[in-house]
Amino acid sequence: MQNDKGIFLKGVLGGAVLAALLGLLLALFVAYTGAYNIAASQDHSPFVRWLFSTTMQNSVAARADELEAPTEFSEAQIAAGAEHYKAMCQHCHAGPGVERAEWAQGLLPQPPHLVEEAAHWQPNEVFWLVKHGVRMSAMPAFGETHKDAELWDIAAFVKQLPGMTASEYAALGQQTGTHKH
Ligand code: HEC
Repeated sequence: MQNDKGIFLKGVLGGAVLAALLGLLLALFVAYTGAYNIAASQDHSPFVRWLFSTTMQNSVAARADELEAPTEFSEAQIAAGAEHYKAMCQHCHAGPGVERAEWAQGLLPQPPHLVEEAAHWQPNEVFWLVKHGVRMSAMPAFGETHKDAELWDIAAFVKQLPGMTASEYAALGQQTGTHKH
């Protein structure tokens, strides 16, 4: 009996090692032969798109969980965030009454319109996304170049985007002069 169990376990282990080796061989084959099309001009297959976006959403949620967002943001913080947004984000993510830049339309994944999509993210998740960026996408990490306080200003502003009118957007962030880019 004991012996049978041992043989069975060895078989399972051998199968797992073989499957891992085959997976590695397949990955090497794809990498060396150029079989995978990396063109941004062609969309991912539905499965790959689902895999990437689900991985990204859960990765951000798991890491942002440890961050505590301020309970409220002042008008001055939101205005400062707007100024950063117009200088560093609008060309990819658009804004109320403003379309994304022409070149940003060729990016894959497409930078989402945050006027709608910001509603799906918590302030700590926006902060995490802006600080760390998203690897293998056009979403940059701003943590190296900006202080946490500035990143919270940006998160505060981004959370105001859903429902903001074009004239409110145009008026915001003109007064402070804090963004020196
Ligand atoms: C060069 C283009 C580019 C710039 C500049 C950029 N982003 Fe992004 N951003 C992206 C792309 C592409 C994604 C999608 C990443 C993905 O789905 O894997 C993204 C994703 C996001 C998301 C998650 C949205 C969602 O629903 O998936 C947020 C929030 C975000 N960016 C905020 C910002 C902010 C705030 C700034 C400015 C400080 C900024 N981004 C600057 C390209 C950009």
